[in-house]
Amino acid sequence: MSLKICCIGAGYVGGPTMAKIAEKCADITVTVVDINEARIAAWQTDDLPVFEPGLLEIVQKTRGKNFFFSTDVDKHIEAADIIFISVNTPTKMYGVGAGRAADLKYIEACARNIARVAKGDKIIVEKSTIPVRTAETIQKILAGSGNPAKFQVLSNPEFLAEGTAMEDLDAPDRVLIGGEQTLEGLAAIETLVSVYANWVPRDNIITTNLWSSELSKLTANAFLAQRISSINAMSALCEATGADVDEVARAIGLDSRIGPKFLKASVGFGGSCFQKDILNLAYLCSHFGLPEVAAYWESVVKINDYQKHRFSQNIVQTLFGTVTGKRIALLGFAFKKDTNDTRESAAITVAQDLIEERARLRIYDPKVSKTQIFKDLDLDASGCNADGVCVVEVVTSAEEACESAHGVAILTEWDAFKTDQMDYKKIFARMEKPAFLFDGRNITDLEQLRAIGFEAKGIGKP
Ligand SMILES: NC(=O)c1ccc[n+]([C@@H]2O[C@H](COP(=O)([O-])OP(=O)(O)OC[C@H]3O[C@@H](n4cnc5c(N)ncnc54)[C@H](O)[C@@H]3O)[C@@H](O)[C@H]2O)c1
Repeated sequence: MSLKICCIGAGYVGGPTMAKIAEKCADITVTVVDINEARIAAWQTDDLPVFEPGLLEIVQKTRGKNFFFSTDVDKHIEAADIIFISVNTPTKMYGVGAGRAADLKYIEACARNIARVAKGDKIIVEKSTIPVRTAETIQKILAGSGNPAKFQVLSNPEFLAEGTAMEDLDAPDRVLIGGEQTLEGLAAIETLVSVYANWVPRDNIITTNLWSSELSKLTANAFLAQRISSINAMSALCEATGADVDEVARAIGLDSRIGPKFLKASVGFGGSCFQKDILNLAYLCSHFGLPEVAAYWESVVKINDYQKHRFSQNIVQTLFGTVTGKRIALLGFAFKKDTNDTRESAAITVAQDLIEERARLRIYDPKVSKTQIFKDLDLDASGCNADGVCVVEVVTSAEEACESAHGVAILTEWDAFKTDQMDYKKIFARMEKPAFLFDGRNITDLEQLRAIGFEAKGIGKP
């Protein structure tokens, strides 16, 4: 009998990861379930709720064959041999650990749901990023439920990066699977290994104990974010000294002990993961009596906050100390290119800072909807705040955003905003003079922009 997989959570991880499994394992039936009806409905159209290059093509190829979406969570839990839990694990905003700990209410709800409806033995896979030892909580809920079925809990954290998710899933640097080191645990690990082995070389599938696997995901995100905060910290010093952060990054990146990746200075990292996972890691460190380790990792988030506010302060200072009533164009709102995800996007902080300074904003992003932008900025459907002041317009082109603007800030590194792809002469012609440009992603040629007439600034650039 062919294997059945059910994935709980049809988000940025559940959708793409399951699409890849369905594509590579034609004999496995994969169903993604979610309580969010609108999301499930959208997965059944060609206007998918998640934008990732290459995703739609795979969904179109597999949907209705061995790949399905449903809101009938119970039915598909019951039918599955393997259940992936891929629900959100946001920062807890209330009670003990507020602002730091991961909120595990969705994970717990899944465990209780499985305990309630499962009839036969199941392998349960933690795909969500969770604090170390969460598997223990899931095991306790299942064991305490009185359900006689046997459950094996595995940890299989996801390392995909949004924007390149389909490539990352196609050829992952590694697949990590943690499980109990018992006969049953090892058998469950082998079952999951055999799913990935349909397309991932066995040498790239690493197996560990449960806790190492859970902690590896938090550690990986902390290391990646720490590199960004390190180069961003240096960008401030570059600006003070006349060094060029891209030159510094290149020089250090050629050292094989350091390597060239994740050394791009910017307005700051965003996304749903880095901040919440580091805060969670720091919370865990405090919980286990390691305040120095907690403080070390927390500083990575502090530098990121500093960098975002430093960028908006720089705009205000450069525009002669005030942006009140001035029009500022923001190019890009997604937290990075090639995604429509805006969670924790640096653009949100910069926009909020500028709104606070009473600037008038025009925002353009090629993939983020007006509704999403207004929602992220706590504005109503017309872009107005609670006092009825309408401060933000969302427009459909970069040119329109820059019309009569005093300044323009690039906040997402979309290729379309690069100097060789956008007509900056045309944009300059439409702006108030002097026209200021703030490249928060270091994707433009500042010399070229200056030759056009812009007063152009980058991050950590002379
Ligand atoms: N986004 C990323 O790039 C990324 C990468 C690696 C790991 N992760 C981790 O993966 C997890 C999921 O992230 P995401 O970005 O896909 O989140 P998401 O918010 O996009 O999707 C989660 C989905 O789970 C659904 N859900 C919540 N509780 C449910 C329940 N009880 N039953 C059914 N559905 C339920 C929600 O409705 C939502 O659609 C998180 O733990 C995240 O940290 C994310």
